[in-house]
Amino acid sequence: MSSTNPLPRISIIGLGKLGSPMAAVMAAKGFEVIGLDLNDKLVNAINKGVAAVEEPQLQDFIDKGRTRLRATHSYDEAVVGSDITFIIVPTPSGADRMFSNKFVIAAVQSIGEALRKKSSRHVVVVTSTVMPGSTGGEIQRALEQASGRKVGPELGLAYNPEFIALGTVVRDMLRPDFILIGESDAQTGELLENIYKRSCDNEPAIRRMSFVNAELTKISVNTYVTTKISYANMLAEMCDKLPGADVDVVSTAVGSDTRVGAKYIKGAIGYGGPCFPRDNKAFAALGRTLGVRCDLAEATDAINDHQIQRLIGAVQAHSSPGQRVGVLGLSYKPETPVVEESQGVALAALLSAEGYLVTVYDPLAMLPAEPVLGDRVIFANKLDDALAVDVAVITTPWPQFRGRKLLDHAVSAKKLVIIDPWRVIGDEPLPANLALVRMGFGKR
Ligand SMILES: NC(=O)c1ccc[n+]([C@@H]2O[C@H](COP(=O)([O-])OP(=O)(O)OC[C@H]3O[C@@H](n4cnc5c(N)ncnc54)[C@H](O)[C@@H]3O)[C@@H](O)[C@H]2O)c1
Repeated sequence: MSSTNPLPRISIIGLGKLGSPMAAVMAAKGFEVIGLDLNDKLVNAINKGVAAVEEPQLQDFIDKGRTRLRATHSYDEAVVGSDITFIIVPTPSGADRMFSNKFVIAAVQSIGEALRKKSSRHVVVVTSTVMPGSTGGEIQRALEQASGRKVGPELGLAYNPEFIALGTVVRDMLRPDFILIGESDAQTGELLENIYKRSCDNEPAIRRMSFVNAELTKISVNTYVTTKISYANMLAEMCDKLPGADVDVVSTAVGSDTRVGAKYIKGAIGYGGPCFPRDNKAFAALGRTLGVRCDLAEATDAINDHQIQRLIGAVQAHSSPGQRVGVLGLSYKPETPVVEESQGVALAALLSAEGYLVTVYDPLAMLPAEPVLGDRVIFANKLDDALAVDVAVITTPWPQFRGRKLLDHAVSAKKLVIIDPWRVIGDEPLPANLALVRMGFGKR
């Protein structure tokens, strides 16, 4: 610890969608933070005090922590100049559907080598999502080999993933439901616990345990949540076909039972993004290696894959190939430009392949979607252009697409059917040229 600031000094390896906000939040909360990334753009941005990652509140927190926040390319500088190092690099899914540790191992090897230039105690924290068995297995082995130290009194190791959603990363870091810590020893766990007691605005439950229990907890939370989403989507499809049914009425009532809970049971469209779609696949793959049946994880996945057919079916019920379709929303959720595994992008690509003339619009994700969709679709300059079509589908419930905010832009449409799987249009009176299809509603 430094003599002027008694708090542990933090280094963060990987300044991406999760690492940059974490660096900013920790610096804003009083910690000395040094970030490291292989990407010049991200390092330079932090040193200039600019958010290089699109995320609400990130710039504010960079501003608040500016005097305590810097970045480097040098592992020696980051590791020797800190007491605790968080690793937040990608763990992509491999052909076996499990998460690959290759980038974590590369980071751990560089951290280990830098640790040879430092004699005092250091703690290494894996924040990237890893498969159960990783931290105490190949990650610990790589760290010990590279550093020449054993995990113990002079070298702490932890698995400490974050439960955040893109678009609300800063808020989720400030007010988490709980903090999950897999620890090599009590001193390491306590250090992390104290960091979070300072960085959180709330008083989250702190769950400390072994590496493998923490690794399994992280993936279990995500697979349980996606199971709820697929359940709600199954219910929504049932309501599509059950005369007089209304999925919001049913799911709100079901969610009032505290055994179920109100969150994540809004029937709408499939889940996407960089985390959820791969988690059930990894969970089921782990089950297979252990000889455990994971039918529930596989079913969750299968129901999610089916959601795009539900959307296509809704478009086909109101139009034919050759007609114009607007896809409103390319990011996988509001307030982020991320298009990975997004239902909007998938729908646009599939409809275009079916011969529809597809126009797309998103407030933030047009640029990231361009290389994915290419010239198969028209990228609208403004919302009005994506509504000057025969059928428009609201794939991402951006605030701009809700109620009158959307309807007021449907000025050039001669006759337009709006397909609303999120039911964001509400009971707005519709002009004569507009028709609304609320998914999750059985015909009256
Ligand atoms: N994004 C999310 O919503 C989210 C949520 C929970 C968990 N996670 C997990 O967090 C991890 C990081 O995700 P992300 O979305 O921030 O990824 P990201 O791709 O946005 O950022 C990762 C960064 O790590 C850098 N990097 C890679 N190898 C490196 C190395 N050896 N040394 C230094 N930097 C290196 C990359 O240049 C990149 O900037 C993943 O394991 C992911 O599963 C992500």
